[in-house]
Amino acid sequence: MSSKFREDFDTSRFTKFLFDMRIQEELPEWPPLHVQKRKSRRTRIILLLCLLIIVLLFLIANVIFLNIRVLSVQPATPSSTSLSVNAQQCLSQYTLNAPSSPSSYPCSTCLPILQAVPLSSNSQNAQQIINAIQFCGLRAIFDTANSQGQASLGWVNDVKFCAWNGVTCDSSGSVANLQLTFPGVPSSLPNELGALTGLKSLQVIGGNSIPAGALPSSFTNLTDLSNLHIEATSITQLPDNLFSSLTAITTLTLIRNPTMGSSLPSSLTQLPLQNLVINSQSLTNPLPTLSSSPAFQASLKLLDLSSTSLTGSIPNTISSFASLTQLLLSNNNLQPPFPSNFPPSLQILNLQNNTGLSGTLPSSLCNSTLLTSCELGSTGLIGGCGLCQFS
Ligand SMILES: *[C@@H]1O[C@H](CO)[C@@H](O)[C@H](O)[C@H]1NC(C)=O
Ligand SMILES: *[C@@H]1O[C@H](CO)[C@@H](O)[C@H](O)[C@H]1NC(C)=O
Ligand SMILES: *[C@@H]1O[C@H](CO)[C@@H](O)[C@H](O)[C@H]1NC(C)=O
Repeated sequence: MSSKFREDFDTSRFTKFLFDMRIQEELPEWPPLHVQKRKSRRTRIILLLCLLIIVLLFLIANVIFLNIRVLSVQPATPSSTSLSVNAQQCLSQYTLNAPSSPSSYPCSTCLPILQAVPLSSNSQNAQQIINAIQFCGLRAIFDTANSQGQASLGWVNDVKFCAWNGVTCDSSGSVANLQLTFPGVPSSLPNELGALTGLKSLQVIGGNSIPAGALPSSFTNLTDLSNLHIEATSITQLPDNLFSSLTAITTLTLIRNPTMGSSLPSSLTQLPLQNLVINSQSLTNPLPTLSSSPAFQASLKLLDLSSTSLTGSIPNTISSFASLTQLLLSNNNLQPPFPSNFPPSLQILNLQNNTGLSGTLPSSLCNSTLLTSCELGSTGLIGGCGLCQFS
């Protein structure tokens, strides 16, 4: 633009020179001035246009910004007013005092108060409310542990519970994963456990005598729980309707819980369970019930009932499992006859140490190209699957 300007200027000077040559007496100065004026008027217009655009942009940005501010402020305003005085106190105590003195935070008072706050209309305080609730749920577990258990857990030195031993949080700051391993276990599972409504996986591996007692009634609150593992505890009989609430369970593992009784909750067979592992605790022959469950027939991939004192024979309905890849029934007292067909999807079969089993396995099993492992030691079975499969 500037070179163009200079060019224009030079041509005008040249014109002026020619002009001067022709008419020397009249207005020698004005033509270049005129050109310069036109030039500067054009730049002034451009400048004005630029200014106008800037002002317009500023106004538009302002309107958008104000709208955003109004939108974000609007829902927050009623929240702070709708929060009860008690809830506000619980919240401010949690944010101000709990970090330096986590064991003196009044969970027994504040947990029910904060649980009653509707989070949807308190978006501004939601995160702190969730944090305080999760903190109190976990602290109850810690408080229920003996001194050896508390030392092993090492919790409640701060409120950063997502970093505590055995605790994993999801992106919203709720406890999603909880792994309690002896000696870091409570003496019983406290009712506050039901406050951890974001739990997806709970693993409790106790020291045989602890944890003891029943599951807390709040356990039915854990509706997102998909993986439940209870091992080496003195937890008593699971409520019969437990799995009417815990409908997200896909993996259930119960190992060495001698006081749990030998019958499974009837609600269990309604679940589309993928993995059922019950080991080293006695069951009163659950195979007929389990294998005739339509939900299990569609979804079960792993059935492990090793060392559960199974008696009787494997029912014919077992062949209806459409997805079963592992059938583990070792260390039991199973008897013949065999079902005429095993699930065609079966990859691993373990019937080891069922001394009462005799005869031969069905030829359809031996023909299966999917079967990769077949353990038949300490049985009276002739030939086994290995012989058929690899002959
Ligand atoms: C169960 O969860 C709801 C919120 O989902 C809560 O209001 C209730 O207090 C919880 N119950 C227990 C015993 O924690
Ligand atoms: C075989 O199974 C029985 C239960 O039927 C059990 O008591 C025994 O310990 C098992 N043997 C081995 C070697 O695992
Ligand atoms: C197993 O395979 C043999 C030979 O390949 C065949 O004759 C027999 O019908 C098969 N049995 C079953 C149950 O598929």
